[in-house]
Amino acid sequence: MQSRKVILSGMQPTGGLHIGHLTGALKNWVELQNEYECYFTIVDLHAITIRQEPANLRRWTLDLAATFLACGIDPTRSHIFVQSHVPEHTQLAWVLNCFTGMGECSRMTQFKDKSQKYPENVNVGLFAYPILMAADILLYQADLVPVGADQKQHLELTRDLAQRFNSLYSETFKIPEPYIPKVGAKIMNLQNPTKKMSKSDENQSGVLFLVDEDNQIANKIKRAVTDSGAEIVFREDKPGISNLITLYHIATGKQIEEIENEFAGKGYGEFKKAVADAVVEFLRPFKVRYREIRANEEYLKLIIREGAEQARRVANKTLAKVYRKIGFVAL
Ligand code: TYM
Repeated sequence: MQSRKVILSGMQPTGGLHIGHLTGALKNWVELQNEYECYFTIVDLHAITIRQEPANLRRWTLDLAATFLACGIDPTRSHIFVQSHVPEHTQLAWVLNCFTGMGECSRMTQFKDKSQKYPENVNVGLFAYPILMAADILLYQADLVPVGADQKQHLELTRDLAQRFNSLYSETFKIPEPYIPKVGAKIMNLQNPTKKMSKSDENQSGVLFLVDEDNQIANKIKRAVTDSGAEIVFREDKPGISNLITLYHIATGKQIEEIENEFAGKGYGEFKKAVADAVVEFLRPFKVRYREIRANEEYLKLIIREGAEQARRVANKTLAKVYRKIGFVAL
C-alpha cells in the first residue's frame, strides 16, 4: 500500500489569530486532513525573531493549539506539535544555512517589511527565518504546504534549497508544492483594504480577531472602508468591497457571482449588515469550542506531547540521511 501524501504547515504563536489565518490557511488544513498525513506546527522559534514577552509566548502557544483543535483539526488523524519540541528543525536549519546565499534571504519581502517595521531589532534570526521554514517543511518530506499568498516566496526558496541539496548529494528531499486558496489567500485590513490584514497592525479596528465579541465583529465590518461607486462587485478597483465579498463567501459558502447577484441594486449599508451577520454566525461555533478546549491545559499538553513524539520519529530519519550525505560521522 502506498503511504499517504504529506502536508506540513505552521503558524506563529504571536497573539490572537484573525480571520485571514483562517481563510488563508486553517480552513484548508481542516479540509485536507482527510486525504493527507498532516503535520501542523506552532512555530515558537520563528516567533522570537520579533521580541516576545515570555509569559505571552507561553500563553499564545497553548492558545494556538486550542485554536487548531477548535477549528476542526482532528488530533487522532493529524499531528499538532510545537517547533521547539523537535530539535531537528534547528539542526536541519543550520545545514541549510550553509547552502543559502545572503542575496537569496535579503530579497525576501517579509524580511524587508519586518526590518522596516522593527528597525531597532533587525536580527540574524529574522534574516534566516525562511531557512528555518524550509527546514520545517523538508524534514517531513512534505508534498503540499497550505499557506496564504504572503508565504509563496518562502516556498519558492524552500524548493530551490531542496533542489540544490538534491543535485549536490543525490535525491534527499521531496520538492514541496504550495497550496494557496483561490479565494481568501490574502484578506485585507478592513480600514485599509490595500494592505494585508495582520495581527500586528496599528489599526486594530481593521482586524477581525477570531475571539472578538459578536458586537466587535459586527461593528468592525460595518465601519469597514469601502470604495467609491455603489456597485457590489468583485473587482480589482474595488478592494474594500471585494474583501467583504470574500468574507461573505467564506462565511456562507456562496459563490462570488451568486453574491454579486444577491446584492445587485442594493446599497453598501445593507450588504455590510449581511456580511456582519454571516461572519458572526460563522465564527460562533468556533468560539464556543475554543473556550471549552482552552480551559483544559492538561489535554492540550497531551496533544502537543504526542504530536512532538510522532514528529521526531519522522524528522529524525530525514536529518540522519542529511548528516550522512554531507559527511558527518555517525556513532
Ligand atoms: P503566520 O503565523 O504569520 O501566518 C500563518 C498563516 O496565515 C496566513 N495569513 C493570511 N492568509 C490570508 N490573509 C491574511 N491576511 C493572512 N495573514 C496570514 C499565512 O500565509 C500563513 O499561511 N512563515 C509562516 C509560518 C511558518 C510556516 C512554516 C508555514 C513557519 N514554518 C512551514 C508553512 C510551512 C507564517 O507566516 O506564519
